[in-house]
Amino acid sequence: MTADLDRPSLPLRAELVGLEPYGAPQLDVPHLLNVNENPYAPSEAVVADIAHDVALAAAGLNRYPDRDFAALRADLAGYLRVESGAVLAPEQIWAANGSNEIMLHLLQAFGGPGRTALSFAPTYSMYPEYARDTSTRWVVGRRAEDFAVDPQAAAALIAAEAPSVVLLASPNNPTGTALPAETLEVILDAAAGVPGGCVVVVDEAYGEFRREGTRSALHLLPERPHLVVSRTMSKAFGLAGARVGYLAASPHLIDALRVVRLPYHLSAVTQAVARAALRHAPALMAQVGSLRAERDALVEWLRGHGLRVAESDANFVLFGVFDDRHAIWQGLLDRGVLIRETGPEGWLRVSIGTPEDMTAFKDALVEVAGL
Ligand SMILES: Cc1ncc(COP(=O)(O)O)c(C=O)c1O
Repeated sequence: MTADLDRPSLPLRAELVGLEPYGAPQLDVPHLLNVNENPYAPSEAVVADIAHDVALAAAGLNRYPDRDFAALRADLAGYLRVESGAVLAPEQIWAANGSNEIMLHLLQAFGGPGRTALSFAPTYSMYPEYARDTSTRWVVGRRAEDFAVDPQAAAALIAAEAPSVVLLASPNNPTGTALPAETLEVILDAAAGVPGGCVVVVDEAYGEFRREGTRSALHLLPERPHLVVSRTMSKAFGLAGARVGYLAASPHLIDALRVVRLPYHLSAVTQAVARAALRHAPALMAQVGSLRAERDALVEWLRGHGLRVAESDANFVLFGVFDDRHAIWQGLLDRGVLIRETGPEGWLRVSIGTPEDMTAFKDALVEVAGL
């Protein structure tokens, strides 16, 4: 019998059979507004500094990198102090290849067979994948009509399901909804009552875009040993291509992550890029203010044209409701504007781009949706 070399029979885990890899379409069109990237490329000065530091790192690439990336952790703590006023020691910071890997480390350490991870849908579509990949049971509560998490219902679900991990994106993707401090406090109290313990992860991938008056969960860390606040350099920093995510938590919790990480998971090149970029934080973040203003103007414009729009503290906006959202998405794409077909039925998500991107998006939407 000859083996079928094209389609060998592989011992694939049953839960992976027939699944496609996750990922939004990567298309070459003029207006890329589908994965919540920062539309502004790093300046020449930032590029030059990164290139200089990468050259220095390259000269030492025969050696493994600092596997505890002490200098980068100190720099990230310094950044959070300026950004949020949070006073954190380097031992309270952990980093990985994007916050995707941060979440995986968390699920590897605190999830696993016989354990449960819990979140509130609609939310980031990668969460169930981290659970699946770590053989963690996945449970979702529903968000309310306005996409808020009801604190009492959340506390009841946590008490009933006894998760070891709760994942809360704030601002939430794809809705843009921030989690009010009072809701988070109720959830943290409920999690503290779970037998065996429960880690609450607040995923602030879009934290820097929050509106005036919305506080980061970082300020709760001193009194909440089971709280994790995750951040990324992919969005506000405009460094999605560098793959740098990080979190802040108690040093004790981070010790658990150090057990599951692969040795030397953050390359010397990644560490050099991140550190050089952090030196330029004010310049790299200069556009955050204008992106926020652009977002608020877009929300107003969409509402002014009779559409429903979710409140957004992020660099994207969820809007609708369309009888045939795929036709709208396709019509925009035909006009060179790529947005995301995601969220509840009938809704679409658009990332905030440059003023030119936004004009192209609005012009195309007027045509396609007949606004
Ligand atoms: C809520 C949320 N968390 C985490 C991520 C992952 O970001 P990264 O892995 O680039 O840090 C994203 C990316 O879109 C996201 O929307």
